[in-house]
Amino acid sequence: MRVLDTTLRDGEQTPGLALKPSEKLEIALLLQDLGVDSIEAGFPAVSRGEYEAVKIIAREVSSSEIVALCRCNRYDIDLALDCDVDAVHLFIATSDIHLKYKLKISREEALRRAIEAVEYAKSHGLVVEFSAEDSTRTEWSWLARFFQEVVNAGADRLDIADTVGVMWPSRMQALVRYILENVRGNYVLSVHCHNDFGMATANSIAAVEAGAGQVHVTVAGLGERAGNAPLEEVVTALHFLLGYRTNIRFEKLKHVCDRVLEITKFNIAPNKPIIGINAFSHESGIHVHGIIENPQTYEPIPPELIGAQRRIVIGKHSGKHAVEYILKTMGITPTPEIVDKVLKIVKELGDRGEKITENTIIEIIKLVITDNSKKTTIS
Ligand code: KIV
Ligand code: ZN
Repeated sequence: MRVLDTTLRDGEQTPGLALKPSEKLEIALLLQDLGVDSIEAGFPAVSRGEYEAVKIIAREVSSSEIVALCRCNRYDIDLALDCDVDAVHLFIATSDIHLKYKLKISREEALRRAIEAVEYAKSHGLVVEFSAEDSTRTEWSWLARFFQEVVNAGADRLDIADTVGVMWPSRMQALVRYILENVRGNYVLSVHCHNDFGMATANSIAAVEAGAGQVHVTVAGLGERAGNAPLEEVVTALHFLLGYRTNIRFEKLKHVCDRVLEITKFNIAPNKPIIGINAFSHESGIHVHGIIENPQTYEPIPPELIGAQRRIVIGKHSGKHAVEYILKTMGITPTPEIVDKVLKIVKELGDRGEKITENTIIEIIKLVITDNSKKTTIS
């Protein structure tokens, strides 16, 4: 299964996000290290800095394929050639709404431009990834004809772009099967899912099950509006749930995502799957008891496989096992008396709506222990 990461292109289209070339290079090197097959480094026609960034990335990254986004025109493809990238990601809209209101051209004109661009890029030795923008709101028979002509012109990979995130898993599977059945030739079929209805991961997985050979993803789901399919969710689900093989080095996943979030200064929700602070945190008494006995009781995958760490959190839902665990990690023997006292204070604070931080629990434990030793001395 191929993984094309577009954090540096679609991800950078996150409202308010702009990266310097040096930051883009650092992210590209991290993605290479993570093992993504293709890195969409940027859209050289956007600005001088973007062009420079793509060029530097193409020079410095050697083991992932470097891709530049291009409209279907020679100017954009020439810029990509100047950057010395391995591949171009050509795109043009195919839906009637985009053709009528945005491009103001006919279906046949869009096809003509696409064919000419593919032939031009191929004649210069580039790998061609071709996206039909707004594929999922395009009439299916027209999309298949369009893709067929683009493959005939030499495109290596075809991409179904769910530009406004309107697909759902069963429909995505039907579309992937329809394209695979109706477009002949030697190509890899890819999907590019946006998350407007929260289904980008599910749609990507569904597409793979239906026969797609590549997914477009971004770290943490960065991207326009509600973002793109999150890399960390898609690759872990593919690997750990469905058993697909990718080139991802899973042990680096958490670190790479954390660093990208630091560079982009993008905040994620605590409960974000795989990389959120709560993704491998456990508070409730029943869960912590299970986790201590056998982590598989409440963890779908061991956190260490993706370079993350389990956290046992103390709060009003905690039970004695969690407190015993924390005391042991602090080198304190968890006598029933200490455990009960700590738990009592924790629950009282919780009932008052107070958050128990790591510092709070240390303070509570210190208080209980000091109190206990005073009593021992007096008695
Ligand atoms: O969402 C989209 O349609 C895109 C294209 C450039 C593929 O990002
Ligand atoms: Zn997109």
